[in-house]
Amino acid sequence: MARRLVEVELSKGRVLAGDKIVHGLFSDTEPDFHRLGAEGARSARALAKAVRFAGEEDRTAEIPLGARGRTITLVGLGKSAGFTEEKARAFVERAIDSARSSKAASLGLVVPEHAAFSGEAAAERIFRQLALAEYLFDPFLPRKPGARLKSATVAVPAAWRRVYESGSALGAAIAEGVVLTRDLGNTPPNQASPEWIVRQARGHAKRWGATIRVLAGPELKRRQMGGILAVGAGSKNPPRLVRIDLGSARRGGPVIALVGKGITFDTGGISIKPAAQMDEMKWDKMGACAVLGILEAASRLALPFRLRAYLALAENMPDGAAFRPGDIVRCANGKTVEILNTDAEGRMVLADALAWAASDKPEVMIEYSTLTGACVVALGPTGAGLFSPSDDLARGLLDAAEAAGERLWRLPLWPEFLEEMKGSHSDLKNLGGRWGGACNAAAFLSQFVGEVAEWAHLDIAGPAYVGGDGPRKRGATGYAVALTVNWLRTRAATESTAAPAARALRRQRKRR
Ligand code: BES
Ligand code: MN
Ligand code: ZN
Repeated sequence: MARRLVEVELSKGRVLAGDKIVHGLFSDTEPDFHRLGAEGARSARALAKAVRFAGEEDRTAEIPLGARGRTITLVGLGKSAGFTEEKARAFVERAIDSARSSKAASLGLVVPEHAAFSGEAAAERIFRQLALAEYLFDPFLPRKPGARLKSATVAVPAAWRRVYESGSALGAAIAEGVVLTRDLGNTPPNQASPEWIVRQARGHAKRWGATIRVLAGPELKRRQMGGILAVGAGSKNPPRLVRIDLGSARRGGPVIALVGKGITFDTGGISIKPAAQMDEMKWDKMGACAVLGILEAASRLALPFRLRAYLALAENMPDGAAFRPGDIVRCANGKTVEILNTDAEGRMVLADALAWAASDKPEVMIEYSTLTGACVVALGPTGAGLFSPSDDLARGLLDAAEAAGERLWRLPLWPEFLEEMKGSHSDLKNLGGRWGGACNAAAFLSQFVGEVAEWAHLDIAGPAYVGGDGPRKRGATGYAVALTVNWLRTRAATESTAAPAARALRRQRKRR
């Protein structure tokens, strides 16, 4: 489909290979150029001396290396004391840019010794960043601009090797997941119908060795899934609810449910949206796409879980058959909802998906949706809102997001919000008052999680994609794949040691 990933590997030799070598230097640390080989180190030392390059922040110096047009770029990182993870990311970005501008096919990156680069999470971020450097959604571009950068080699201090080996595998798996999420997400809505996503999901499930179950019209009706049926009623592309079971062979392990909103296009329905930027509502399927990306990454890592993905797929269109404001529908768990605005459709499809997922009794349930504009108003476009009644789960997800370099912020599930969503002729209504829209929506969802205590809702409306034509690269981002895979990995590590006891304790608590 789109461009391949850059192949990234950990340097094995003492001397770094690559058409373009990028070497980071702190201003307060003696530079050690041994990674450049004898000749390279000599040139680097001589040039640094000649131009008085001492690792000043943002300063660079270019050194030709041998005959074939290879170059070394020294990048100043400033004082090591003020160096942050954000600056580490910018350094890698700069290395990619410099490889690109010198048309190099391979990049050699020397990672300097600093806390901002050390540890598995840092390794994961660097490998992911490099792997995704050339991503472009190109199926509809007549002339595919060929990817220049094909491979990268990363050199790290010898003591970090072990950690970087595991971090690099994690980063590579996450990058594969992110590409899948982006490709699916960027596919335009005239192609990416619910049925099309089902076809993709079937193909991937087969490859993962996962089983897949797809609910269509009659089955949705039989299960009284009135939410997703209502939302899909106005579209020629009928709704589908998908469940994918990954790792079911490892019986006995805890089940983690991942639920995604997959509105392939959100016009708002009868409560139609304004025309401006409506094209961006093709990215209203990013929750479902993120869940598929998470499965892609998870299938490449041996995790001791059974993952169950639930994708709520529908297109929200205005039509003679569309659902309307005033309709009252019954959802899969029996709750009735009065529709006050057909543009609040995400919570309606999720009501049925969450109810189904909850009835399968998972240990943890995490749901992803581009649910509200209000969440973007609150947190801006780069961070997602996190809602969970479980402090443990919330803490775990916030930590995982931080480690992944993805912004996540906890928002409240106060009872006032639920009051707001209660109906007069139905259990619930799908619209609250003017204020706290993201929280009202989360409170609504809380009515469909059944007995699952450890659930979380991530409102990813902001970070899931970059719209408009501003300075950031337009398109799906793959947000939430990295944070979730990080969370799963951490959970797996604790699961294998402390968790059986913790689980027993939880069960005991529940019984009381
Ligand atoms: N898909 C939208 C939310 C959205 C907005 C996603 C902006 C990405 C960017 C959702 O279905 C929606 O329309 N929400 C309404 C809810 C309102 C009618 C209660 C909104 O946010 O205005
Ligand atoms: Mn909507
Ligand atoms: Zn929507």
